[in-house]
Parts: sequence; C-alpha cells; structure tokens
Amino acid sequence: MDVRFSPDEFVKIKELLVLYRCALKNMDMRMDILLEDFDNIKGHNPIEHIKKRLKSFESIAEKLHRLSLPVTTESARNHLTDIVGFRCICAYAKDIDYIAEVFKAQPDIKIISEKNYVKKPKPSGYRSHHLILEIPVYLSDCVERLPVEIQIRTSAMDFWASLEHKIRYKYKSGMPLHLAEGLKECAGQIADLDERMYKIQELIDIAY
Ligand code: GTP
Ligand code: MG
Repeated sequence: MDVRFSPDEFVKIKELLVLYRCALKNMDMRMDILLEDFDNIKGHNPIEHIKKRLKSFESIAEKLHRLSLPVTTESARNHLTDIVGFRCICAYAKDIDYIAEVFKAQPDIKIISEKNYVKKPKPSGYRSHHLILEIPVYLSDCVERLPVEIQIRTSAMDFWASLEHKIRYKYKSGMPLHLAEGLKECAGQIADLDERMYKIQELIDIAY
C-alpha cells in the first residue's frame, strides 16, 4: 500500500530528517576515528566494513503505518529508533561484543537498548548484536539527542540476513516452511563456519 505524509507533515519531516542526517554524520565520524585507531595505532582492525543509511520518507511512512501509528513527524520522532542505521561487519564473531562495548563506553552516548541475537539467535536463525544509542548533536543554540541503530555481525551473518530479508520480502504473506527450515539450518552452519574460521585464524596468529 502506498502510504504518504500529508503535505504539512512532509514539510516537518523534511526538517526532522536534517537532524537525523546530522546524527548520521556524527556517528560516521565516530566510526572513522575507530577505523583510524584500529588501522594506524592498534595495528589490527576487527571491522571489515561499515554500511550506513538514512531511512527514506517512504520507509518511515510505511513503518509508522505498519505499526498502526499516525503517519506524522511527531510519531516518527517518538517511536522510530532506526531512522539512522549503521551496520558494522566484523571478520570474526568474537569481535562483535567487543565492538559493541567500544560504543557503549563512549561517555556522551546513552544506551537506549541492546539485543544480543548472537548469544540468543532469533527463532528464524537471525544473528546480530543490536544497539540503539542516543547521541548528542550540537546545533547553534541547543543539543538534540537522537537515536542511532547499530547492527554488528560477521560477513557470513550479513550474507544470511540479506538473503533471508529478500526471501521474506518476496513471501509477504508468509515464507514457505521448507524455505524457513532451510534458512535456519544455514544459519546454524554459518555459526559453525564462523567459529572454524576463527580457530584457523588463531592458529595463524600463534604461528607468526
Ligand atoms: P524493527 O524490525 O526495525 O521494527 O525492530 P524490532 O523492534 O523488531 O527490533 P529488532 O532488533 O528485532 O530488529 C531490528 C532490525 O534488525 C530489523 O529492522 C532488521 O533490519 C533486523 N532483523 C531483525 N530480525 C531479523 C530477521 O529475522 N531477519 C533479518 N534478515 N533481519 C532481521
Ligand atoms: Mg529496522
């Protein structure tokens, strides 16, 4: 269904998204600094790559509608915590919780929520460590505190999540059971593979 903001709300949501774009820039800079530190000071970078996105007007309207909330700027501000989203892809599963701790330790960040689906995978088999953080954005006359979602996972978990998302999207009314079971089995195999790759890497570390 095509859900949209009213013309009045559209003007307001455009203004709100300026703030969220600032939050994205702020988190982007924090990520960049971490990469500098890992690459050039620590000499070891547990982050393979980072993806980021600002939710579009259309997705914001669609999500509010899906949650049976009014399609207004106020309800987007009050209820959506994933307008700014980052994905940190780590080489090894053991780095995931470490990266989460690095963000949680930043003193101007407030932790809104944390869900560790690596320790406790979702029934679908989904694995990822999720943080909703509130970060300060310094404007000319005030400080805005805005939520940012960070999903931390391995490349293999990311591969699984994007395929599962595509399949789930294709079968909007419900995924056939054999596909759901197949995906769940793959998620387990991916967790085993992540563990084996880590053990091999450890052997190399010891050898050199
Ligand atoms: P929303 O799904 O965003 O409304 O959030 P939630 O309150 O259900 O929180 P949760 O932490 O479970 O999910 C947040 C995000 O994680 C989702 O928007 C997806 O990007 C991702 N995610 C969660 N569960 C799954 C899953 O089973 N499969 C895939 N592919 N992604 C998932
Ligand atoms: Mg989301």
